[in-house]
Amino acid sequence: MVSRVIPVGTFDLVIFGGTGDLSRRKILPGLFRRFLAGQMPDDARIIGAARAKLDNDAYRQLVREAIEEFGHADPGFESELATFLELVSYVPIDARGEMGWAQLAKRVRSGVIHAYYFSVGPGLFGDLAERLHGHGIANENARIVVEKPFGHDLKSARELNRTLAQHFSERQIFRIDHYLGKETVQNLMAVRFANILFEPLWNAQFVDHVQITVAETVGVDGRGAYYDKSGAMRDMVQNHMMQLLCLIAMEPPSRFDPDAVRDEKLKVIRSLEDVDSHHIVRGQYVSPEGEPLYRLDVGNPRSTTESFIALKCHVSNWRWSGTPFYLRTGKKLKARMSEIAVVFKDAPHLIFGQEAGRHCNTLSIRLQPDEGMTLNVTIKEPGPGGMRLIDVPLDMTFAEALADQLDDIPEAYERLIMDVMRGDQTLFMRGDEVEAAWAWTDPIIEGWEKRGDVPKPYEVGSAGPEDAMMLMHRDGRRWREIK
Ligand code: BG6
Repeated sequence: MVSRVIPVGTFDLVIFGGTGDLSRRKILPGLFRRFLAGQMPDDARIIGAARAKLDNDAYRQLVREAIEEFGHADPGFESELATFLELVSYVPIDARGEMGWAQLAKRVRSGVIHAYYFSVGPGLFGDLAERLHGHGIANENARIVVEKPFGHDLKSARELNRTLAQHFSERQIFRIDHYLGKETVQNLMAVRFANILFEPLWNAQFVDHVQITVAETVGVDGRGAYYDKSGAMRDMVQNHMMQLLCLIAMEPPSRFDPDAVRDEKLKVIRSLEDVDSHHIVRGQYVSPEGEPLYRLDVGNPRSTTESFIALKCHVSNWRWSGTPFYLRTGKKLKARMSEIAVVFKDAPHLIFGQEAGRHCNTLSIRLQPDEGMTLNVTIKEPGPGGMRLIDVPLDMTFAEALADQLDDIPEAYERLIMDVMRGDQTLFMRGDEVEAAWAWTDPIIEGWEKRGDVPKPYEVGSAGPEDAMMLMHRDGRRWREIK
């Protein structure tokens, strides 16, 4: 197949935290895949920077191992890998001291795109920004990439925004939410805004409710210290799930450009109503015997942090008034499944009688695994015996429909890093968006903290606490199966 990747200009990418987990698992293998796809200029440079006192060769070895372990590198790629590694170098650096900065300043070239990836804790963002500026290597074309968590609450997010704004303009700051780099997430915009079919029905008059599920089978995986201070609300809802909700609920932007898209998302976040405490269920995973596995995993025997959350919320505007949005996410659930389901209302008048059965159309958008979309349509059950109705899926599993193109689809991080090089901020969060998301999240968290709420136990491998089922049942609805 002819590659349709758009090449990017020559760049120097400096990865602070270049020896860390995210670099090894996502950033470096992602860069190699883009290199293989022919998207990276031959004279691009990747400079790892971290405290470890490594030389270039030792770092190249680390990069090689990361790509072999996490990048699905085929042994057939050996010569490409060797060429790629020639683009890589390393500078030992101290974010809070002077070590390494003069060397880095010498290493980056003038006249090329500078991208600085802050793959470090937010506590270092300010130090890095200041030193980049102080050493004169943050020219007006430089970009910085920052990872979540972007703050812990509204106050800290505002502080971070203020700190970064001292040295960088908003158009230079790329706040990553890797969910926005997922293929299906972007497809959601294509489906909504490039087809005539859905948009007329995409409102409270025709949509009964929307449910968004991000179910994981993994637990806290060695990130207990971070996770126990965050919980599912801060780790997943405030960012990833909020972004999904925005893309479903937003008005059509006038253009597919960064500010037009982000303005519309911001309006959705600002339209979210406060959530009633009865519409929130928090859970913590336990073993089938009731052992507090989550608490053991995070090493905190009295933890009241949630590893699961389900909630019902409302977008208070003309389009969505009266249509609930149900969100749920959790760790150690029965399957890995991320899905958005738009459940339409029943037909207004049933001509076939009760015995034919009642059905409604559902559009499900599956992010992972098996990304694709399915529209359930009601038809007559084939055969004699009168008019009985059944649902059949109009299925568009991408693996089948687009089989010959799937290998070319970049993973979330790869796509986003290349967007940084292109200077395209459409799939990155703007400062005001992040703050608005915290402004909605903070009172919910404060509410349960004030009430001394304790999460409900749920068994590992289940679909979450029973109360989460009740959240839907009370409204005469049900969650889609996690499978
Ligand atoms: C991260 C969260 O942002 O997203 C993790 O911190 C979570 O806790 C992960 O596991 C999920 O990402 P994905 O792409 O595997 O769905």
